[in-house]
Parts: sequence; C-alpha cells; structure tokens
Amino acid sequence: MTEAATLTYQGKTYELPVIEGTEGEKGIDISRLRQTSGLITLDSGYANTGSCTSAITFMDGEKGILRYRGIPVEQLARHSSFRETAYLLVRGSLPTRKELNRFSVLLNDASLVHEDMKVFYQNFPKGSHPMGILSSMVNALRSFYPELQTMEEEIDITVTRLLSKVRTLAAMSYKMSRGHTVVYPRPDLSYCANFLNMMFDSPVKPYEIDEDLVEALNVFWILHADHEQNCSTSAVRMVGSGRVNLYAAISAGIAALWGPLHGGANQAVVEMLQDITASGKSMQHYIERAKDRQDPFRLMGFGHRVYKTYDPRAKIIKVMCDRVLDKLKISDPLLDMAKEMEEIALRDDYFIEHNLYPNVDFYSGIILRAIGIPTNMFTVMFAIGRLPGWIAQWKESMDDPQWKLCRPRQIYVGPAERDYTPVDQR
Ligand code: ACO
Repeated sequence: MTEAATLTYQGKTYELPVIEGTEGEKGIDISRLRQTSGLITLDSGYANTGSCTSAITFMDGEKGILRYRGIPVEQLARHSSFRETAYLLVRGSLPTRKELNRFSVLLNDASLVHEDMKVFYQNFPKGSHPMGILSSMVNALRSFYPELQTMEEEIDITVTRLLSKVRTLAAMSYKMSRGHTVVYPRPDLSYCANFLNMMFDSPVKPYEIDEDLVEALNVFWILHADHEQNCSTSAVRMVGSGRVNLYAAISAGIAALWGPLHGGANQAVVEMLQDITASGKSMQHYIERAKDRQDPFRLMGFGHRVYKTYDPRAKIIKVMCDRVLDKLKISDPLLDMAKEMEEIALRDDYFIEHNLYPNVDFYSGIILRAIGIPTNMFTVMFAIGRLPGWIAQWKESMDDPQWKLCRPRQIYVGPAERDYTPVDQR
C-alpha cells in the first residue's frame, strides 16, 4: 500500500501520497494539492522540491555518493571512457563493443561543423566570453541542421551531432580567438585526444599527444557528465518542456552553467587564488571575509546545495591533480595554495558548522591549467562534459508521458488593484 502524508488546514485534512525512490528517498506528491485545497507550496531556490522522477543519476549528499545509471562514478572514472559514459547516460546501459564502435563512427561522422559557422566567430566582439559564444553557436546549429522527425532519429543523429560538434565548436572558438588556423577533427583520434589536438595543434608546432593528459581530460569529463537536477539541467528540462528543439534547450543549459555560483565557479576559483596572491594578504584574511555576512565574498569552490560532505568528484580530482602534476613535473603554486586553503577552512568552526567542503570546481581549474586550457575556457570544458547529462535528462523528459510544460506558480505580494494615474497627476 502506498504511504501517505496528511495536511490539515482550516479543519480539513488532505491525504498526499508519498513516493519512494530506489534508494529509499521519499517525497510527498503534491500534484493534486492546488486542485483539492486551493493551496500551493513556496520553496525558494527549490531546495525541497523534486521536479521529476528520474532513472539517470543518484546522489546522496550526506554520504557523498554519485552514481550514473547505478554505477559509482569512482568506477567509471577508473575504467570507462567519456564516450562510453556518454552512451551509458543517454541510452541507459553500457554499450556492447559493437554498439560502442557504431557510436564512435557516428561521432566521427558528425565531427565537422558547417564552414559558414566560422563567419559567426569572426563577428563576436573581441573579449567576448567563450560561454556566451558557445551558447549562441549551439543555438545556431539548429539553423544548419534541422530537427528530425522521430525520437529514434533524433537520438542517433542530433544527439551524436551535438556531442561531437560541441567539442569542435569549443576548440574552434579558442583558435579563432587567437587568430590562428582552425584545426579539423581527425578520424584516428579518440574523443578526448581529438579535442586536445584541435585546441593545441599548429602548422608550426605539431601537438604531441600526451596520454596522461588525455586520461586526465577523460576523467574530468566523466566526473562532470551528469549531476541530476542542478541549475543548468533544470534549465534544459524547463526550456525543453515548451517542446523547443534540443539545440535551443542545450543552449539554455550552457547559459545557466556560466554563472559563478554554478559551473563558472571553476574559473572563479583560479581567479580568487590569483587575486589572493596579488593582494599580498594572508589566506586567513580571505577565510575571515568569507565568514563575514556583511561581506559578499565567498570562498569559491566551497559549499554545495546537495553535498553536505566532501564532493566525491573533488576527491578524485584532487588525487588526479597530484598525479598529473607530478608526472609532468609541473609545480603549480595554485595547487599548494588550494590545499592550504582547504586545510584552514576544514579546521574552521564556520565551515564545519555550515558543512562547507570543497566541491568539484575547487581543484578542477588546477588540472585544466596543467592540460593547458586558458582560464576563460574552464566553464566551456565543464559544458562539454555535462552535455551527455543534459541530453539524457532532456530525452527522459520527452519520453515521460507525465512531463508537462514547466510553469511554477507564485504568491503575489505587489500592490493591490489601483487606478492608472495620468502622467501629469503623478
Ligand atoms: N563561502 C562562505 N560561506 C558560504 C559558502 C562559501 N563558499 N557557501 C555557503 N556559505 C554559507 C552561506 O553564507 C550561508 O550562511 P548563513 O546560513 O550563515 O547565512 C550558508 O552557508 C548556506 O549557504 P546558501 O547560499 O544558502 O546555500 P546554497 O545551498 O544555496 O549554496 C552554493 C550553494 C551556491 C554552491 C554556495 O555554497 C556557494 O555560493 N558556493 C561558492 C560557489 C561555488 O563554488 N559554486 C559551485 C557549486 S558546484 C556546481 O554548481 C558545479
């Protein structure tokens, strides 16, 4: 028998069904609340609101668990490739070797972008942020590649097209921003190696692919591949709920990810560490500022809406930072600073009481710097990684017969009805 919660209001009792997920998490189904009681719920920032049921990603913020389609992210980071993880997220199960080969062929076939798209890049003002450019370019893809008729075609063609072309578009934006020749994708390279080659190969200095960096990028993208109903994923679902095309929904996700409280935090962390160095002030000074409620400064890369313990992705990235920097014999003072800051913060009562731990963005900038990615491209790297998750979530919502146009309610607190006053009488 289904459990129920009861709500009593003005002498009447309403029974609300309780829905239970695979891992025992429970939620009160209020979908008939307004119809039966006239009431709505208010939940600023949706911190207590489940917007859907989903079979894609499970996370437990108290225990620091993250699983894609049931598989712990630690196992995927150790054994899988980003390409295979993307397949798992979008299709629901790990591919057979034949399926994986076919997926690779599709990704390769779709990797070029229309030459006319280069013109767009030339017309963005100098200094435009790559996230704004990427969001616009993904939206523009719709004009070059029309929607397809069936969901099967859409998945096979549009989805692989997006996964493949976003990588090309991102590398292209970097090359064009530097005024350099665009490097085309190569059929003989893996997903990650291909991206690095498009970013860093040059007619005068051929890029030597370093397998350690390829592996680091592979893990970085796997760790970013999905994170259930976060800000950008909810944007993709919400925009998609108007039945807009997939390109426009993903473009909205990229725009949402750009914010410094969300994906933009990886750029903000490195800039914060650089500002601290430039200021000559102590680390403790910034920790004190982060604790001061009157000061808008926050420790970037710390805290998370769901994780109230160490973000499992940050754990993996921290270890990877040490390994990659060690192997490449790179000494990055920002890594030492980040570790020192983490140590001070984790000993501090404020951070302990507020359950503030490093999140995925705290160490990810360090690994991206080691790969050679410029700071303003960090969030673009996150976006490429998050693409399979956005697509999987969009597809799940489209397949869900219960999925409706997203349209929250509000409690109006503005002026009561009043008459218009002509301009001379105001
Ligand atoms: N530094 C200092 N104090 C913080 C921080 C921080 N990084 N994060 C949260 N707090 C404090 C808040 O001031 C607040 O304190 P109070 O209750 O005494 O007023 C309390 O912790 C709760 O903070 P909220 O902002 O209400 O919590 P929320 O769940 O909304 O915030 C967020 C989550 C936005 C990630 C926040 O921790 C933050 O701003 N972190 C820094 C930015 C960041 O790293 N973002 C990346 C997140 S991961 C991702 O999106 C990929």
